[in-house]
Amino acid sequence: MEIRIVKTQNPKVKPLDHELGFGRYFTDHMFVMDYDVSKGWYDPRIIPYGPFEVEPSCMVFHYGQAIFEGMKAYLNRNGEAVTFRPFSNFRRLNRSAERLCIPQLDEEFVWKALKTLLQIEKDWIPKTEGTSLYIRPFVIATDPYLGVRPSHTYKFFIILSPVGAYYKEGLKPVSIYVTDKYVRAAEGGVGFTKTAGNYAVSLYAAEEAMRKGYTQVLWLDAKERKYVEEVGTMNIFFKIDNVLITAPLDSGTILGGITRDSVIQLARDMGYTVEERQLSIQEVYDAYKEGRLEEVFGTGTAAVISPVGKMNWNDNIIEINGGKMGELSQKMYNKITAIQYGKEPDKYGWIEKIED
Ligand SMILES: Cc1ncc(COP(=O)(O)O)c(C=O)c1O
Repeated sequence: MEIRIVKTQNPKVKPLDHELGFGRYFTDHMFVMDYDVSKGWYDPRIIPYGPFEVEPSCMVFHYGQAIFEGMKAYLNRNGEAVTFRPFSNFRRLNRSAERLCIPQLDEEFVWKALKTLLQIEKDWIPKTEGTSLYIRPFVIATDPYLGVRPSHTYKFFIILSPVGAYYKEGLKPVSIYVTDKYVRAAEGGVGFTKTAGNYAVSLYAAEEAMRKGYTQVLWLDAKERKYVEEVGTMNIFFKIDNVLITAPLDSGTILGGITRDSVIQLARDMGYTVEERQLSIQEVYDAYKEGRLEEVFGTGTAAVISPVGKMNWNDNIIEINGGKMGELSQKMYNKITAIQYGKEPDKYGWIEKIED
């Protein structure tokens, strides 16, 4: 399929790098493509970023048939625009699509679309160390229809947003509130997908945690409310007795993070034992009490590594590493960002350049 390109007549003034924050500014263009059961995906196009019309009966507003991805483009030290493991994001988008009865996308074609869009918007990739261009591909159901069934029409978009350095004053540990009152996802549900509803259900608990003075919520498993799952928009790792432990993906209740997977590979190559297994919050607490809980950190595209300094589980306070960033957390952050910004050779084949 040929991608039609309509360039904007009114390019925007770009924000300064220090003004960026997260997800507030959007570039001049977006990629759009439509789907109809009789035609498949059709009319791929890059057009000026802006509003579009749908009817109030549009199915996504009512039944939430919506999926998305989150990834980044970086300018490396040679001035080349690169992305990190984009095909892992496209595969995950298709896993989400399957579960939400949304038609599959051709991953090679999505890569072509993204590369074309990024080539047009290359000047929007901010240059300051730690900044990047956040990439948000998403699909929504568009039938104007109020019955509950999968839509027959969809729209796929890729929009881009320049984002600031996540850590302006170094990697600051966050505090997390462990909830056994609310749950995010149960076995057999959609926890492993990036569907809009997973984020809607997380808001109430997150607000409650914030009122108590915590930045994030740590979810436990829905059935026993015992085992640690993930945090907000991050997977979570615990270092106990020099072993790195994170929740397994087989329950289907956790998003399989691409940063999570990268950390597991890197840690094993650094000689650490990594266990993907059920870990109860009681075990974490006991390890803390016995002085064996060495580090806790979250992993995700936005922050890469987010050290955890404090946890609250039913008013049992767990203070990790004196509230300071741990050695492995720092090492992981340095390693992954060095690969992303081209300071270290990409021996894993994780980097994809946008220009051949
Ligand atoms: C619920 C959830 N868990 C984990 C992650 C981390 O995934 P990744 O490392 O692919 O960004 C994210 C962010 O995408 C998320 O939304």
